[in-house]
Amino acid sequence: MSEVQSVKYAVEDGVGVITIDNPPVNALGPGVREGIMQALANGNADPAVRSFVLIGTGRNFMAGADIRQFGGARPVSTRTSAAAIAASAKPVVAALHGYALGGGLEHALACHYRVAARNVRVGLPEVSLGIVPAGGGTQRLTRLIGPKAALEVIVSGRHVEASEALRLGILDEIVEDADLRAAAVQYALRAAEVRPLPSAQGDVLKPLPADELAALFEAARKSLSRKSRHLKAPLHALALVEAATSMSFDDGVALEQKLFEELENTDEAKALRYAFFAEREAAKIPGTSGLAQPEPVRSAAIVGGGTMGGGIAMAFADSGIEVKVLDMSQEALERGLKRIRDNYAVSVKRGSITQAQMDERLAKIRGVTDYAGIGDCDAVIEAVFERVELKQEVFAKLDEVMKPGALLLTNSSAIDIDVMAKATRRPEDVAGAHFFAPANVMKLCEVVRGSATRIQTIARTMKMARDLGKVGAVAGSCDGFAANRSRTPMMTEMMLMLEEGALPEQIDRIMVAFGYPMGPFAVNDMSGLDVSYEGRKRRAAADPEYRKLHIPDRMVEMGRRGQKTGAGWYRYAEGDRTPHPDDVVKQVIAEVANEFGIAQRTFSDDEILQRALFASVNEACRILEEGKAYRASDIDVMWLYGFGFPRHRGGLMYWADSVGTPAILAQVRQWHERYGKRWKPSALLERIAASGGRLRDAVPPQ
Ligand code: COA
Repeated sequence: MSEVQSVKYAVEDGVGVITIDNPPVNALGPGVREGIMQALANGNADPAVRSFVLIGTGRNFMAGADIRQFGGARPVSTRTSAAAIAASAKPVVAALHGYALGGGLEHALACHYRVAARNVRVGLPEVSLGIVPAGGGTQRLTRLIGPKAALEVIVSGRHVEASEALRLGILDEIVEDADLRAAAVQYALRAAEVRPLPSAQGDVLKPLPADELAALFEAARKSLSRKSRHLKAPLHALALVEAATSMSFDDGVALEQKLFEELENTDEAKALRYAFFAEREAAKIPGTSGLAQPEPVRSAAIVGGGTMGGGIAMAFADSGIEVKVLDMSQEALERGLKRIRDNYAVSVKRGSITQAQMDERLAKIRGVTDYAGIGDCDAVIEAVFERVELKQEVFAKLDEVMKPGALLLTNSSAIDIDVMAKATRRPEDVAGAHFFAPANVMKLCEVVRGSATRIQTIARTMKMARDLGKVGAVAGSCDGFAANRSRTPMMTEMMLMLEEGALPEQIDRIMVAFGYPMGPFAVNDMSGLDVSYEGRKRRAAADPEYRKLHIPDRMVEMGRRGQKTGAGWYRYAEGDRTPHPDDVVKQVIAEVANEFGIAQRTFSDDEILQRALFASVNEACRILEEGKAYRASDIDVMWLYGFGFPRHRGGLMYWADSVGTPAILAQVRQWHERYGKRWKPSALLERIAASGGRLRDAVPPQ
């Protein structure tokens, strides 16, 4: 038995078993590629070895290249070690389990056969990191499964489950999880008898007629130029699949290398790598080391079957967790459950789930009209109307009925957690679980810590979020928490720019050009203008100096609440979601400007973008200053997953660093002078601008 760093090699019954052992996920860190090559060389020179198995220890086969190594030197590339596998004179069988991603799958594709455990997930997710596979993956996969399937898998970067991977031809055999190693060794012994060895370096096994091929690439190019218009990687990936259908294997691999090098250090790739690690960092909760792992939430109840409550219930059902929906009247409950059924029916119609899946999910959801019916649930999420007294009433009732130790959560998007915690005798179990609409789709769950919340409550709520497939990030309790609080100034400035003469369609155009999938006004029309109306009323009542936003208030008072009323910032034709600019909005703007004597002017695109985003950067700094977020990168995670901030810009704070804090501070100071106290520069922004540090690394003062 020999050992080269994180790769182990042993000969078993004439099979050389090469085991990757590089925790936590078997990434291709230093020494792994070299270890694989060394083991192959040993085995090929050893007459006792007839074939090989390449397998991983722990939870995964291999999670791909070590993302931390990008941008730096790699002594041996995946291309080289994969080529060594493909060139082995004795057959190599990949034994896959858990994740086999990126360079991991590329190594497996270079093997002569692939056996997998049922729990396997394979994929080439490089595009989501702003790069393309460069270990021969695009060339081998296209040859193995044909250009159509390869294009979809590579451009989406998605994880493919075992049965689909078998159907596509990525896998040769699926075995039960526990049998993987033994089955792979047996497979390798059988493979030792077969010559010639199969090769994925020759012709495409499932070619398409030339005209179909041309149409496939043309349609994909068109769709990507629209959908991924800010990104280079998806179009480069497409070019590589195309190359696999028209070039020799070696030329295709050379092109892979060239395009990879072009992408590796782009701003896009750097921002996407940052976003990857920021998401993982957000899962880390200070103060939990040494504590027991949190118990999973196995059953949940949602109080309030409205749009938000229904969406949250669907998120539980989608993850296979039993969920009860509580509404006070049978009628309201029926309405809520019908909305859920209708939403699932749309998904079935679109083909994103099957009828059987819909039935299975609906079976997880039960409606109740009595608090007594939910007391045994592990967690309860209050999702009633955003009014303080109502929430307090609900929490007092929950305190009476919920079993000891249950999580008492609120989906409030702004109201201080302590207000609700005080209505109970167990404030330590009360926290926020703030989902974003639509809750079954949007990935962010902002977990909010009140002043009395136990850290175990936070840890368990974060686990719940993760089990729901959400990305959790922790905020401290304050008005709006961290996500909405940091976004509110952006929305406020946009409303004030309207007063000064900007138009919703102009601002939307600029934000879409920046990279948002939709403009903020179009989004507001979808979510409803009335949602923030109550919050503004509450703030105005609490703060005599509160700067009222006359235009959105007036729109709501006119009944223009967005798509649901056929008009909001835009006008909508019956049954159509296409926004049309509306002169009524211009009239409202003119009226308000007239009434309050606000001069009208034109705005440059830069001014609009900066005024919107700098306001939020300044507020995010205040949030950190007050210790209402653990780290700046958590705020970035919130913007990426809660608000659709363009991922290739990393997040609000990462983007701010790309602009430069001194420039931002100088502008904030100017606007402070011009517009007054809401633009007061945050002390943290001043400190970082003076020290030359980076906002993205900012943490609260100790
Ligand atoms: N390189 C470096 N570190 C990696 C890594 C990689 N390819 N993949 C995962 N890690 C690290 C994570 O940063 C995390 O580290 P931490 O505990 O210090 O925060 C740890 O491994 C566990 O990862 P996590 O994502 O929390 O585990 P998971 O079980 O939820 O998911 C994966 C596992 C493999 C699905 C996920 O980590 C992933 O998608 N990795 C990237 C895969 C990829 O893109 N590969 C192609 C690279 S070109």
